[in-house]
Parts: sequence; structure tokens; C-alpha cells
Amino acid sequence: MTALRIDGKALARQVQDGISKEILELNNKLGRAPCLAVILVGDNPASKVYVKAKAKNAESCGIDTIDVFLPGNIDNKMLEAKIKELNTKPNIDGILLQLPLPPGLDEYKALSAIDPALDVDGLHPINQGLLLRGEKSLRPCTPSGVIELIDYAREKLGLKRDISGLQSTVVGRSILVGKPVSLMLLERHCTVTLCHSRTKNLMEECRRADILVAAVGRQELIKGDWVKKDAIVIDVGINRTESGALVGDVDFQSVSKIAAAITPVPGGVGPMTIAMLLKNTLESAKQRAAHGGKVT
Ligand SMILES: NC(=O)c1ccc[n+]([C@@H]2O[C@H](COP(=O)([O-])OP(=O)(O)OC[C@H]3O[C@@H](n4cnc5c(N)ncnc54)[C@H](OP(=O)(O)O)[C@@H]3O)[C@@H](O)[C@H]2O)c1
Repeated sequence: MTALRIDGKALARQVQDGISKEILELNNKLGRAPCLAVILVGDNPASKVYVKAKAKNAESCGIDTIDVFLPGNIDNKMLEAKIKELNTKPNIDGILLQLPLPPGLDEYKALSAIDPALDVDGLHPINQGLLLRGEKSLRPCTPSGVIELIDYAREKLGLKRDISGLQSTVVGRSILVGKPVSLMLLERHCTVTLCHSRTKNLMEECRRADILVAAVGRQELIKGDWVKKDAIVIDVGINRTESGALVGDVDFQSVSKIAAAITPVPGGVGPMTIAMLLKNTLESAKQRAAHGGKVT
């Protein structure tokens, strides 16, 4: 059997079409297009590519973007001052700080300087705290995309949306992916096992999973014999091989012979991360329109 290849590009297109329609309606209330400010510190080549892709997709949905390029040698104070200045601009509905920051800068401090109402990456401690409590908040984009991909795969497989009681294993415990995706799966009533570099017998933990999410950053770590038959496998990892190709944390060839569905790399989680960023920007702009243009 060959697993269903979960087409993240197609799902992202669907989501972005919906966003475009909502933006047409919102523009009248807001008196302008929603606007996303993207901050890039330094000249990390991969980050430059991601920032470009975000701006291109934003514009295709009718979201304006402002690029804020800062030199790699700035200090935390200067970065936080710039973020605080952007917080006060009435025409900016979302602020994204592209990670990773150059060495020497404190990501947690910089992320905490973003107004939580504009935190479209969902990484401010207030938004992460609200997620922990299961309250409405701007949620991290990649984990939100992972949940949408699971729902999409289950629909394509003819399974019900309800995933309560299913065993899910998440490999990786970053604040960007592993921890928030675990909380979101828990919110959907899965039984969640969260694994990391000190996990004993990772293979067994993976093999128990009905839903397996890999967010590790280790090229093709998860092999076919690590996966339960008919599992749904979401591969968040992006790794560059020696030949320059992009591969995930999951060995697509062997796992697709066992799993019911699997996301490819590229073309799986990546496009959905961008779609969720644009959805958060729309949400933030809607909140602003509802409050007469003010940040809540
Ligand atoms: N597609 C997208 O849009 C998207 C978005 C974000 C990230 N990513 C990709 O997803 C991957 C993870 O990103 P991240 O930011 O979460 O990375 P990260 O902050 O480096 O975290 C990696 C996690 O993996 C764990 N880990 C490392 N080696 C392991 C091993 N051999 N066995 C088990 N666990 C191991 C680490 O454990 P410890 O905590 O114990 O160190 C850590 O919790 C990267 O490849 C990144 O590029 C993709």
C-alpha cells in the first residue's frame, strides 16, 4: 500500500482563497488593506527566502507587507525599540520577527516586545499562556498548520474529524513547534506523548502513534519500521542534504509504504505555515476593525 500524499500546497491554496474573500469584505470596514510587518535581522540566506515567500503570498491574498531589514550587529535594546515603534503604528496589523536571530540576540526578549494583539506568529508569552489554558489567542503558525493537515488527511481518507482518544506522538519540544502542537492535540483530546533528545526508545514511542508529528531537524530520522500501520504522519522537518536537496525528518520512501497518509517535504507543512500566518494577520486586522482601528 502507498500512503496518501497530503498536499499542503493545495490545502494552503484553499485557505488563502478563503482569506482573500474575507479581506475584500474587511477592507471597507478597515478603510485599507490589512498589513503585515516582517522584521529580518542580519542576512541569513534561508531567512531571506522565507521572508520573500511570506510577502509574496501575503500580497496574493490582498495583505500589504512592510519589510524591516535590520543589520546583524544591532543589540537587543535597538531591536526591541524598533519592535515597540512598530507596535504603535495604526496601519500595522501583524508583526513577524523572522527567526533565528543572529547569535548574541535574545529571541525570547525580542518576541516579548511584540504587542500580543499583533503577534501573528503566536510566540509571545501571553499568547503561549492562553494556548496552554485552551483560550482564544493568536496561535503559532506551524502547529496550527499541522492540525489543519491532520483534519484534511482524515477527510481525504474518509475518516471522521474527531481524533479524541487517539495516540499521538510528537518528536521535538521547541516553543515554535513541538510544545504548541502537543497542546493543540491535547485540546482535541488525543493522548499525547512528547519526545525529545533524551527520550528512551524513541522508535517504540513513534510506533505507538496513530498520529505522528516529527519536528526534530534530523534528516530522515524516522524510518518505515518506526511507524504504526495506517498512521497519519506529519513531517515538519526541513533539512538540506549534501547535494542541496530538501528532505524532512521522516524517510518518505519507507514510511509511505506503512502509513495511511504522509506530508511531503517540500510541499507539506511549509505552505500551511504561511497560510496560517496570513490567517492570523486577517484575525488581528478583524479585531482592529471591530475596535475602531485600535489594537485591543
Ligand atoms: N515547515 C515549516 O514551516 C517549519 C517551521 C518551523 C520549523 N521547521 C523545521 O522543523 C524542524 C524542527 O524545528 P524546531 O524549531 O522545533 O527545532 P529545534 O528548536 O532545534 O528543536 C528540535 C527538537 O528536536 C529534538 N531532537 C533533536 N534531536 C533529536 C533526536 N535525535 N531524537 C529526538 N529528539 C531530538 C530536540 O530535543 P531537545 O529539546 O532535548 O534538545 C528539540 O526538542 C527543523 O527542521 C525546522 O527547520 C519547519
